[in-house]
Amino acid sequence: MAASTDIGVLDVNRLSGSLGAEIRGISLEQAGPAEADAIRSLLLEHQVLFFPEQHLTPDQHIAFGRLFGELEAHPNLSLGAERPEFFELKAEGGAGAIADEWHSDLTCQAQPSVMAILHMKKCPPFGGDTLWANQYKAYEELSPPLQDFCQGLTALHDAHAHGKPETMAVHPVVRVHPVTGRKSLFVNEHFTRRIVELAHPESDALLQFLTRWASNPRFTVRYRWSEGTIAMWDNRCTQHYVLNDFEGERVIQRVTVMGDEPEPASPPRWKPYIKPFSAASRHDRQLKAYLDGKGPG
Ligand SMILES: [Fe+2]
Repeated sequence: MAASTDIGVLDVNRLSGSLGAEIRGISLEQAGPAEADAIRSLLLEHQVLFFPEQHLTPDQHIAFGRLFGELEAHPNLSLGAERPEFFELKAEGGAGAIADEWHSDLTCQAQPSVMAILHMKKCPPFGGDTLWANQYKAYEELSPPLQDFCQGLTALHDAHAHGKPETMAVHPVVRVHPVTGRKSLFVNEHFTRRIVELAHPESDALLQFLTRWASNPRFTVRYRWSEGTIAMWDNRCTQHYVLNDFEGERVIQRVTVMGDEPEPASPPRWKPYIKPFSAASRHDRQLKAYLDGKGPG
């Protein structure tokens, strides 16, 4: 569908009923502030955007990312010390850096990322699709009593899955998007461990429900990649999942825009609750350590 924007007419095709649009008619290597404004408003509308046939160099990719804010520097994954904000992730035959659990990026940190911009450099012949889920919808389609209850809660997130349980953060279970003002669900199976204000069996039950609900197929889009496609998503109102079902090599390049602190939909209404404290519950120990400010137990 042709869409009129401040930078001219773009070809915008929605990819599902919930989120995602493929955009043609723009060259990202020549993008400047006017293009960034138009892309930002398309991203607010669709949450994840795909730009096929772009083939950016690493420096063009970084320059494009900087139009949207400060980029994350990550010495462990970066390609050479001269570009600490540029990452290349390779996976072979499903082994390697494959994020095959639903998550929003870096919610184990006090400031998770704002958005990520991926370049599909090398695509397997089949498989390796990525799915995204609209977390506005995940919140809005809860019943009013559960919406109300969840708004008063916070949750502990940690990087246990990455071997760093000491990296922890507490975020609202329902957050407000700083630009759209819409509320979205903000818990995920990869990083979220414990609802702070509930006893641990209650927390386990609610998190199991919410993290599964968050990826209801009705809230999702599934994208089949081709080489040279740039994808970008709003990490504040989506989750994503990479299908680990491919053979051959899959290489993505990535920059990540930082600088976001989740804003709660309402102030916490209850105090942290870890009674009775269960020594058998790693998540109770983890929460206690967080509250005591001592790192993991
Ligand atoms: Fe991710």
